[in-house]
Amino acid sequence: MVILVGSQKGGVGKTTIATNLAAWLVKQGADVLLVDADDQGSAADFTAWRESNLEKCGYTLVQLTGINVRKQIEALRPKYDHIVIDTGGRDTTSQRAAMFVCDIYLSPFAPRSYDLWTVTKVATLIDEIQAGRAEPFTAYSFLSKADIKSADNREVAQALQDYPQLTFLPFAISNRKAFANSASKGLAVFEMDEPDRKAVAELDALFNHILHGNLATTAA
Ligand SMILES: Nc1ncnc2c1ncn2[C@@H]1O[C@H](COP(=O)(O)OP(=O)(O)OP(=O)(O)O)[C@@H](O)[C@H]1O
Ligand SMILES: [Mg+2]
Repeated sequence: MVILVGSQKGGVGKTTIATNLAAWLVKQGADVLLVDADDQGSAADFTAWRESNLEKCGYTLVQLTGINVRKQIEALRPKYDHIVIDTGGRDTTSQRAAMFVCDIYLSPFAPRSYDLWTVTKVATLIDEIQAGRAEPFTAYSFLSKADIKSADNREVAQALQDYPQLTFLPFAISNRKAFANSASKGLAVFEMDEPDRKAVAELDALFNHILHGNLATTAA
């Protein structure tokens, strides 16, 4: 499965989700390729910190840019169980190229009013790319850096459900220090010495839904 984490907004948690997902898939025994398709190189930085803190990184990392993202992933796809792609928060050639080869497009939205208008841009981009593909990809939206007690969450969750291009997944990833703390060590939240159980449970719920839902479809 090729899973792309993308958006048209910076700082919403894409790299956090992509890196945790790569490590989560490794933990499940999968052979994983993490593609850093963001010129900022955050997933590569994460992996460098990871390599200095762990004996074994567990996945393979490559940095790709522009149309090469599409060409290289098409070539690499048969070699891995799963490919996770981290992209930047803008409409770039790299993100579009990745959207042509992904099976799943995963788009985090932070529950802030100024983030929400980008969903229209994301939906328009999805329409455009889907029109050029032989087989459509599955697109999901979900709340990232969510405020558990805030009414903002409900409003944004409701608004996200108005876009048929993206299926809204009701599995929020909350704003928790554990995500930032583990990222600075190059670790997934569940790899910390004393993992934040709530953070781990949130990721498990989101990733299990994405992976199992789609595996079931594949098997049918
Ligand atoms: N769920 C969360 N709870 C708390 N902090 C988070 C969470 N997700 C991400 N962060 C923090 O927010 C910042 C931005 O996260 P991240 O780098 O994952 O976003 P991004 O969408 O990849 O950004 P960019 O668009 O710049 O690539 C980082 O400092 C990260 O540690
Ligand atoms: Mg990033």
